[in-house]
Amino acid sequence: MKGIMKSGRKGLLALACGMLAMPALAIEEGDILLRVGVASVQPDDSSSMVTTAATGPLAGTGVHAGDEVQPALNLVYMMSDNIGLEVVAATPFEHDLSVTGLGAYGFKTTDLGSTKQLPPTVSALYYFGPTGAKARPFVGLGLNYTTFFQEDLSGDARTELAASRLKLDDSFGLAVRAGFDWELNDRWLVNASMWKIDIDTTATLNSALGRIKVDVDVDPYVYMLSLGYKF
Ligand code: NI
Repeated sequence: MKGIMKSGRKGLLALACGMLAMPALAIEEGDILLRVGVASVQPDDSSSMVTTAATGPLAGTGVHAGDEVQPALNLVYMMSDNIGLEVVAATPFEHDLSVTGLGAYGFKTTDLGSTKQLPPTVSALYYFGPTGAKARPFVGLGLNYTTFFQEDLSGDARTELAASRLKLDDSFGLAVRAGFDWELNDRWLVNASMWKIDIDTTATLNSALGRIKVDVDVDPYVYMLSLGYKF
């Protein structure tokens, strides 16, 4: 046991020395980083009560958006050794929408349907540390535009709730960003990062209860793991 610990410690020391001895592989001014990976959008949502013109807010009701994972990519242009400008693109995310509390009003529907969304975000990143550091943590502040499309109502919603014409408004808001780039070698890096995005929308639909309106603050955490290439 002692021997293993000792050789383990020796190994760590050798690894540390090896890292220090490596030439400085920098993320620096003028670099373009292309990162490709997967992003998980996890709504941290809250909603208003389901509201109709005839009844006003229906106590105990709400709408919830589910999680989704999709391929995503982002591009960073280093304006200086410490400041990067980042744009994010993804394939559309599809979120399930559920409705709660309609049982008290005589409806069994809980599966409302689904919506697709694209959340393009532009962020300014601040990279900590010297350019030669192997791992560069960063924080950022960004602007997000989220467009919702292909809103689909579930069979239950269409038949039992007589729902039609589901529409979610687009959203424009701030995003905060944090993560780090870890350089594998001169060209390749691994990135782990997250966004917290302010996405607020209003869902409207027609139903047996009349025209329904619900404000949904989706406000997701987005986690992304990616492999990056430095140009
Ligand atoms: Ni919000």
